[in-house]
Amino acid sequence: MRVLVTGSAGMLGRVLVPCLQQHGHVVNGVDRAELDITNYRDVIETVGDLGPELIIHGAAYTQVDLAESEPEQAYKVNAYGTENLAVACQKLDIPMLYISTDYVFDGLSDRPYQPWDQQNPSSVYGKSKLAGEKALQSLLSKCYITRTSWLYGPHGKNFVETMLQLGADRKQLNVVADQHGSPTSTATLSQIICELIETERWGIYHATDGGATTWCDFAREILAGQDVEVLPCETKDFPRPAPRPKYSVLDKTSLIDTIGRDVVPWQEALSSYLKLRTQLQPA
Ligand SMILES: NC(=O)c1ccc[n+]([C@@H]2O[C@H](COP(=O)([O-])OP(=O)(O)OC[C@H]3O[C@@H](n4cnc5c(N)ncnc54)[C@H](OP(=O)(O)O)[C@@H]3O)[C@@H](O)[C@H]2O)c1
Repeated sequence: MRVLVTGSAGMLGRVLVPCLQQHGHVVNGVDRAELDITNYRDVIETVGDLGPELIIHGAAYTQVDLAESEPEQAYKVNAYGTENLAVACQKLDIPMLYISTDYVFDGLSDRPYQPWDQQNPSSVYGKSKLAGEKALQSLLSKCYITRTSWLYGPHGKNFVETMLQLGADRKQLNVVADQHGSPTSTATLSQIICELIETERWGIYHATDGGATTWCDFAREILAGQDVEVLPCETKDFPRPAPRPKYSVLDKTSLIDTIGRDVVPWQEALSSYLKLRTQLQPA
């Protein structure tokens, strides 16, 4: 397929583009410098010129805390920008895959969220990403919405890199232990996306690595074998502008049924990432 990937210079995009190429797709990756998705005319013209058979939309306003003080920016990119791309898809009669987030849920559930569960985002970021989902659903009959969570990978700022940096400088770390979710490697998410787009089974999918943990236990796994003590603390000890869901584990039954295989446990995906990271480090 000819695939157009937005957000190609972002953390996910930089792993997703080569993964799609390895699966034999012809990929046009664009980021803000090539295409600002909030510019309707540019979106229609660029998409029309490139003539993709599928758009994978990974570009987003992702600064969760900053979004609380500049909601108009978050909505402009995540809602309006997504709507522009959906209109472009409509004009060409092509499908779109949109990357969404566990933050569309309020985190008050006591069981993993199903794709069809009631959303109730509590942060501006979550609300703006949900507005993007709704734009897709109202404009396109052929679309995939893949909600993921706690993403990390070799490019960009993420929890794994932050913990490794802090662990190199300190002997003791306090990490939040009252938020539960599923870490997800950009490598395993990219692989899932490559399999999902072959199916043409449109719908909402929850796509994370397998199992669930807390940020504290995730940090312990990241720093296992290092001389760093990771101590549990509570969300209230680290006040931040945007509220986070306390529990955002996503049920992946429909994804597993659709791609025909189970997902990798998060510990396994993390171990692969840490090994790759060591290989990429300069000697
Ligand atoms: N990171 C997570 O933990 C997580 C969790 C759940 C879901 N997601 C979703 O996964 C997707 C990928 O996330 P990520 O972590 O890879 O994000 P990222 O590293 O922040 O990448 C997003 C990319 O979108 C680009 N972008 C922002 N505004 C744009 C605009 N107006 N026009 C064109 N491009 C624009 C950014 O460019 P600039 O750098 O120039 O702004 C950046 O390269 C996003 O949809 C995000 O909402 C992420």
